[in-house]
Amino acid sequence: MSAPRKIAAGNWKMNGTADALAEVEALLKEHAKPGCDMVLCPPATLLHRMAGIADKGALAVGGQDCHARSSGAHTGDISAAMLQDAGATHVITGHSERRTDHGETDEDVRAKTEAAHAAGLIAIVCIGETLEQRDAGTTLDIVAAQLGGSVPDGATAENTVIAYEPVWAIGTGRVPEIDQIAEVHDFLRARLESRFGEKGALMSLLYGGSVKPANAAEIFAVTNVNGALVGGASLKAADFGGIVAALGKS
Ligand code: PGA
Repeated sequence: MSAPRKIAAGNWKMNGTADALAEVEALLKEHAKPGCDMVLCPPATLLHRMAGIADKGALAVGGQDCHARSSGAHTGDISAAMLQDAGATHVITGHSERRTDHGETDEDVRAKTEAAHAAGLIAIVCIGETLEQRDAGTTLDIVAAQLGGSVPDGATAENTVIAYEPVWAIGTGRVPEIDQIAEVHDFLRARLESRFGEKGALMSLLYGGSVKPANAAEIFAVTNVNGALVGGASLKAADFGGIVAALGKS
């Protein structure tokens, strides 16, 4: 590996029942050779069925969260090994909605990421500042602390992907200025290199927050942006396919 892998990852969040799988079939038909890695993270209820479809094409599937322990009395939770058993190769850890809705701390996210690695999954570790933090000028301090606290020492370019998602850009249609994205991604790359050396230079760094087909090419032209983590626009094959195509060409 001589450069970070280009990855278009979709997070369906709490959306989708069986009929939504037609979108996955359509995506694979249109993008048989996408020119980047495609990953979709459906709700856990669809994981196994989506994995069955993904097997026939250039798509990987992932969970949206996992528990830090491998089994036990944790009603409603899913372990990384269970995701792997259902056909997942990836899992998102530390998404801002988990951090907000479930009070997950950097320490929790690090433990979940370690559990993902132990189960052989690639963790997509999410970090990002709130609007208050950006307005206060503390963005780089916040993402540095989250990166340091959420990413375990065992992270490599093979088992870990970092997603920078400004909380205020998620689901809002608001996207940072291109130079704001570049500033954070350059900063994160430098931090990863200083902590992990060559492994840090090769870890994929995704941008997330209101990525659409219309703004994807501009975002992917930024040095140190190696792809996207996409929410709303990952639900429809036409939209996600547009983002995949832009990444493939970047
Ligand atoms: P969005 O979500 O693309 O709908 O803004 C991004 C995310 O939460 O990963």
